[in-house]
Parts: sequence; C-alpha cells; structure tokens
Amino acid sequence: MSEVTGRQRVSVQVPGKINLQLSVGPRREDGYHELVTVFQAVSLYDIVHVEPAKAWSVSVSGPQGDSVPVDESNIALQAAQALAQRALKILDADATSLIAPVSIAIEKQIPVAAGMAGGSADAAAALVACAHLWGLEAAREDLEVVAGELGADVPFLLHGGTAVGTGRGDDITPVLAQGEAHWVLWLSEGEGLSTPAVYAEFDRLHEQVEPPAPELSPELVAALRTMDPVAMGPALHNNLTPASLSLQPALQDVLDAGRELGALGALVSGSGPTVAFLVGSQAGALDLSMGLAARGPGGDIMRVTGPVPGAHVVDSRGRGSRLGSH
Ligand code: C5P
Repeated sequence: MSEVTGRQRVSVQVPGKINLQLSVGPRREDGYHELVTVFQAVSLYDIVHVEPAKAWSVSVSGPQGDSVPVDESNIALQAAQALAQRALKILDADATSLIAPVSIAIEKQIPVAAGMAGGSADAAAALVACAHLWGLEAAREDLEVVAGELGADVPFLLHGGTAVGTGRGDDITPVLAQGEAHWVLWLSEGEGLSTPAVYAEFDRLHEQVEPPAPELSPELVAALRTMDPVAMGPALHNNLTPASLSLQPALQDVLDAGRELGALGALVSGSGPTVAFLVGSQAGALDLSMGLAARGPGGDIMRVTGPVPGAHVVDSRGRGSRLGSH
C-alpha cells in the first residue's frame, strides 16, 4: 500500500453547458420527460477543490455563492458521499482506507438556476475530484453510474464537448463536431428559473395536446460537423421555451434584441433564463455584446466558446492511490 504524505488537495475545473437542441417529449411515469438534447460545454467554469477532512462539508465562493445551499442538499456534497458509498461497496477492505470525508470548496462562476447546469457541473467535478483523491480513476464506469443517479445533466458534464443526450438526457453519445462556436450569453440579473417549475409549466401547456416523441435534428447534426454557424443558427431549437417565456415573459425581449442585432441564432438555454446567441467570430461576439449592453434589456453579458472539455483535474497535491490506476 502506498503511504499518503503531505497535504492532499485536488482541484477540478468544470464547464457550464448550453443546449443547442432541446426537444422535450411526454412526461414519464417517474416524473421525468423523455427528451432528445444536444449539449455543448462552453468556456464558463466552476472550480471545485476537495481535501480530506474530519467531517463532510461544502463552502461556496463567487458572485452568486450565497444562493447555493451548503447543507446536505448541496449536490456536490451528495455526489462525493454517493461515490464514497459506492466505492466502499465495490472495493475490498484494504482499498477503502483512503475513502473518508472531504471538505469541498466551490469557486462558482456558472450562474445559479440559469439553465446552464451549474449544480450538475459541481456534482460532476466533485465526482472527478474525489475519484482522483481516492485513487478510483480506473472505475470510470462507476462514476458514470453515480452521475446518472445524481441528475439528468451530470453525465454530460463528465464528458463535455458536444454530445447528444437521450432518455432523461443522461444517456450520452458524442457528436462529430469540428471547429469552434462563438456565443454571447445573456445572463439574468434577477430571479433564476427553477427547472422543475419550467417542466411543470410545459406539462400545463401540453394538457390538451401531447408533445410529439422527440427526434434529433438532422440539420443541426450536419451543421455541427464543421460547426458552420450560418447553418447552425436556424437549426437551434428548444421546445421548453414557451414554458420559460410563460414564467418570464421579459425573455422574449432578450431574444428579439439579439436577433435584431444580427445574431445568427438565438435560444433560451435549457429551462432558462440564460439566452445564448450564436455569432460567426470573436469580432462578431464583441459587436453583439456591445450592442446588447447598449440596447438592453439589462443583464450580465459574457462571450464564451464551445465545445470545451468536461470536468478535469487541474491541480493535485500529495494524492494517494490504492488501485495503481494512475
Ligand atoms: O435531474 P435533475 O435533478 O437535474 O432534474 C431537475 C428537474 O427537471 C426534475 O426534477 C424534473 O422536474 C425536470 N426534468 C424532467 N425531465 C428530464 C430532465 C429534467 O422532467 N428529462
């Protein structure tokens, strides 16, 4: 067995996501909706640090850190504890001595309750960080199982890149996508939107007419091959948008503003309220962000690119390994 010396701390960087396609189908018996989505991980990141501690804990810093719970309901803490439980079940006794409580510190940049999977990103990052700390990288499949149990978006944030999600959105298939897409994000400064509330509104709007079975857009898949923004723009689609707009009607003005200012595509990301505008270049992103800032509606405006990698270790000190997997 290797000795663990020095201070151990693992830091993982994880991106937020936008949905280039979100086609939500009928509600299932388990309350989730069958869907087809195309995720893209974009260059707006949280950093999650884990280190061994006497007791489990989580803290959050960053502009919206105060709106993230730091009790047992924190999804990054739940992720670390779920991985520990699974590892204790599958490893032999000798291999389990590293698996002990951690303190988790989240540096939060991804907006909260914004449709960018910020909570799911932190869960994915906590899984990768704890797996590294505990020497479990060989157990990649276990990470994916635990990820799927934590939330529908968590498996994608392990992968990153551009990928299709089916089922609840947690069954991930990478998409052939070469090149770089430039996005301008409009982030709400006001209240976020609760994902369950938006799905409930979707159900209410579909009380009379059941939504069709979701299908992957062939136009979007073709456009993604070369990340051609002119072809991608019209293929962007999100059928949750009427529900998000019903709860936050002012978002329509944001979509209109970006279109008027020449965005090649505009859509609400996931359940919103973040709005993503597709542009053709870095210069186009600068132009659009300045135009939006001048025209309003007021919000935080950011320029990002995609795709970027999923949760990955960026710093690690004094780690131990019980599986010889490094
Ligand atoms: O899995 P996650 O906790 O991220 O999902 C949040 C909520 O979004 C669920 O409780 C559900 O209301 C809704 N949802 C859904 N169908 C999906 C994904 C999410 O109804 N496929």
